[in-house]
Amino acid sequence: MPVVAIDGPAGTGKSSVARLLADRVRAQYLDTGAMYRAATLAVLRAGVAPDSDEVARVVAASDIRLSTDSDGATLVMLDGEDVSEEIRTEAVTGSVSAVSANAEVRVRLVDLQRTHANQTLLVVEGRDIGTVVFPAAALKIYLTATPQARAERRHRQNIAAGRESILDEVLDSVNRRDHLDSTREASPLRPADDAVHVDTSDMTLDQVLDTLTELVETRIGGQR
Ligand code: DC
Repeated sequence: MPVVAIDGPAGTGKSSVARLLADRVRAQYLDTGAMYRAATLAVLRAGVAPDSDEVARVVAASDIRLSTDSDGATLVMLDGEDVSEEIRTEAVTGSVSAVSANAEVRVRLVDLQRTHANQTLLVVEGRDIGTVVFPAAALKIYLTATPQARAERRHRQNIAAGRESILDEVLDSVNRRDHLDSTREASPLRPADDAVHVDTSDMTLDQVLDTLTELVETRIGGQR
């Protein structure tokens, strides 16, 4: 059950690259951020403050499931409803750091993430995959990029999607989320000691994909 763990902050191209990598090396793909987003949506729907003690209870009572559609895209189900689009809204993005800082929520979602490990190669994307969820992963990759490069990417994505976007505000939001994710007590964002660091600031998506594919082939090609 070889696992490829891909961790790093938002805006490094992590999601695009993890999904394309899984496709290229014929692996299953697991987007753990989508689980924290679904948990956050449940909390918002319950009308509970994202940093309150009630959060763990709401998440424990929610049925969160991830699957992959025929195009390889992640389908996120919350209590039987497809919420794949709704978990990407600003309301969810603005509250997800607070919900994911809850230690009880993390225990529950980590358990759920581990159930996805099976006989096939699994590419798992998140913040604590190499450090907490799959510490014995066959390959751990830590993607980085400067805050400016990450904000510019998010800004371009926003514009392309027809969303209003101001670069300075995006940069503020990137810095704020980095700070929250890396200073929280429960599983803060940090690279595993044995992670391969890849700085994507000046790389195209194809270059990152080639670099990661080569790492998979050399590190775990023989184990498959
Ligand atoms: O990758 P993303 O932007 O969809 O992640 C959403 C949030 O979930 C992000 O702010 C950090 C949190 N997260 C986490 O704490 N642990 C993970 N393994 C994945 C995401």
